[in-house]
Amino acid sequence: MKVTLVQGDITGQQVDAIVNAANSSLLGGGGVDGAIHRRGGPDILAACRHLRATTYPDGLPTGQAVATTAGRLPAHSVIHTAGPVYSTKEDRSPLLASCYRESLRVADELAATTVAFPAISTGIYRWPMRNAAHIAISTVRATPSQVHEVRFVLFGAEAYAVFEQVLGA
Ligand code: APR
Repeated sequence: MKVTLVQGDITGQQVDAIVNAANSSLLGGGGVDGAIHRRGGPDILAACRHLRATTYPDGLPTGQAVATTAGRLPAHSVIHTAGPVYSTKEDRSPLLASCYRESLRVADELAATTVAFPAISTGIYRWPMRNAAHIAISTVRATPSQVHEVRFVLFGAEAYAVFEQVLGA
């Protein structure tokens, strides 16, 4: 598996699957989630509502992942994962690692070979970037999968630089 880094907007990535830093409700939000629904159009929300009405009546548990159509995005699927909110009182790292592992498991189910990830939990959920980068990179490297390329799409120069350092270390 090749791990690559790109600075930019994840919604423009031409990949088999784009991972959404969603929340348990699956019904949208700000950040990556807002951008995906805005640019992907209403089919994604309709698919999420269907999931809530069927498989996940109580919402998607934190650390798990589920796929929908990518609507109008230049990708085949969106894999929604609910990251943990950062806590100084409790170590929620296993849940953050689980988001990457479960997303790759769903990617395998979809036969996706190129997958774009955002830096899950590092925005509204406040996870420190360097620690999040360690968890992200070490988890995808340790997860057996058919995915050929994991592309981390970082929103700013700072986030990109942190991932670059961690990847090179
Ligand atoms: N492309 C790539 N990265 C982005 C984009 C984008 N279009 N928009 C934001 N980011 C970056 C942020 O700068 C941050 O580093 O993605 C990272 C994750 O930020 P959030 O999207 O805020 O995700 P998270 O911290 O996991 O919080 C999830 O936010 O939008 C809600 O519904 C979502 O409640 C959930 C919560």
